[in-house]
Amino acid sequence: MCGIVGGICQNNITPILIDGLKRLEYRGYDSAGLVVLTSDNVLQRTRATGRVANLENILNLQEINGTTGIAHTRWATHGEPSTKNAHPHICNNNIGVVHNGIIENFLQLKSQQQAQGYRFSSDTDTEVIAHSIHQALKECNTLLEAVQKAITDFQGAYSVGVISPTYPKHIVVARSGSPLVIGLSDKGNFIASDQLALINITKQFIFLKEGDTADITEDSVDIFDKNGVKVEREVKTSKLQNGQIAKGNYAHYMQKEIFEQPQAISNTLESRVTKDKVLVSAFGHKAKDLFSKVKHVQIIACGTSYNAGLVAKYWIEDIAKIPTHVEVASEYRYRNPVILDDTLFVSISQSGETADTLEALRAVKKRNKNIQSLVICNSAESSLIRESKLSFLTYAGPEIGVASTKAFTTQLVSLALLCVALGKCHKQVSKQQEKAIVDGLNHLPGLVAKTLNQENQIIALAKTFEDKYNALFLGRGSMHAIAMEGALKLKEISYIHAEAYPAGELKHGPIALIDKNTPVIAIAPNNELLDKLKSNLQEVKSRGSQMIVFEDEASKVVPMQGMSVIPVTNNLGRITAPIIFTIPLQLLSYHVALIKGNDVDHPRNLAKSVTVE
Ligand code: M6R
Repeated sequence: MCGIVGGICQNNITPILIDGLKRLEYRGYDSAGLVVLTSDNVLQRTRATGRVANLENILNLQEINGTTGIAHTRWATHGEPSTKNAHPHICNNNIGVVHNGIIENFLQLKSQQQAQGYRFSSDTDTEVIAHSIHQALKECNTLLEAVQKAITDFQGAYSVGVISPTYPKHIVVARSGSPLVIGLSDKGNFIASDQLALINITKQFIFLKEGDTADITEDSVDIFDKNGVKVEREVKTSKLQNGQIAKGNYAHYMQKEIFEQPQAISNTLESRVTKDKVLVSAFGHKAKDLFSKVKHVQIIACGTSYNAGLVAKYWIEDIAKIPTHVEVASEYRYRNPVILDDTLFVSISQSGETADTLEALRAVKKRNKNIQSLVICNSAESSLIRESKLSFLTYAGPEIGVASTKAFTTQLVSLALLCVALGKCHKQVSKQQEKAIVDGLNHLPGLVAKTLNQENQIIALAKTFEDKYNALFLGRGSMHAIAMEGALKLKEISYIHAEAYPAGELKHGPIALIDKNTPVIAIAPNNELLDKLKSNLQEVKSRGSQMIVFEDEASKVVPMQGMSVIPVTNNLGRITAPIIFTIPLQLLSYHVALIKGNDVDHPRNLAKSVTVE
């Protein structure tokens, strides 16, 4: 959470900082700020609440110039969103700091520093970092040494960028638990929480490792590992294109990303399947051997990625016949789970940086050094990729909209491939079955495109939500997980309270919620549970609610008064159906949020990447 950008270059750094912050807004947007070393060698800071545009407006009236600077866009953890809590934080006009993460022992450090005479001007945990470095500098000969000394006191997670007028030609950074990249160019060197922030300036990046610190000047980068030993880190060339992160003709990133799904799914499948086979080696050259030994699968993830995991449980148990458990990472990491021998530990994450998911993986690795881990991830250079034995990239392309869309459907495609790969290694999938599944997957991009063409029908339905405050989503089997994803999407961008239930569970309590003001959205695939679902729909309808049923044409749900039945597909299999039924739910929440007048790409209180607990 929170985005950092900084740099030392030949020209004015301020426009680069502002551009970088805008690209990092997905990480938080409740306040923003920057501090620059001016030509008089003083720290000049500007901060504003709200979006980066507010900071930019101030800078348009009151320019700040300098070649060295650091900037920050915040998602509040300690202290309300306000100007005084916005970063950068400054100590005694001599240390400027931006920070992403949480210093867990900040209260203890704060009282020690107050006793030493340091005054606090914010409620943040970050301010202790500035004071610690200031204190350490009294005993050190360089800014780097002072940062290396100060961080030994910090517990928690951090990536920090530090500048000081005492060392005007340097930025010092430290990384532990939160991401940080260094961008290299012949015009200067830069830092950021994510390469996206700098892709306009350079394609050459160094991804710092856990515990690394670095001393950066305009033409040099010296990196030190967690023991303070000077190290070389590989310089990687990013494949990201600047255009990939532009909105193009779309009104919102979310809309763009919904409509990118046919291409994203094709990219996920490319080189992983032939016309009738799943290539097990797509999971790594050791995958075949490893998958053959797997007796259990444990999936952990958060939010939308967790919902993808729930769908996978149905698939893996049904097709590969391997017992599979799914749990939210924030719970899993703190309990003492029984980890059975020969478990494949699968984490799912769009960003690869979600703190709970990463810590759950680390906790499992600590308990069982031989655990086999696989991550399904969209971010090639992420911590989860680095720390897992096997990795499988979803190739959705950058997802900027806070509400996850193409990441989810490409995760499902990846998990379907995993399911077949496991099933093949366990001799549970016949050639014929494999061919049928691969055939279905190869048809998906076209089917998704066709479903997207139903947007106008969905806009009409969305209009009926204008005055609604509650909604219920129903599905059975794997469609319950899709209903959960539909409810999550509606909640996070339209702020309508939405719950998802397995349709058969309604009569055990939640049916009491149903009245004419609570729309019910049901998913009706043509499968063995269809007749049961139809009975559940009758139960709901007789309580007078407005209903929307997204059905497989072959399901032939008979519309009743107050019920809209929308066929979205025809005779789909158990793998392709959940993916297709996701599309109308994404479009519905997008259009409801528009009708409610919400900022679709920046929903309140949220951030794209949750890199803190
Ligand atoms: O990057 P991750 O997939 O690990 O993120 C997990 C969740 O934070 C994320 O899916 C979140 O729930 C989205 N806002 C959902 O749209």
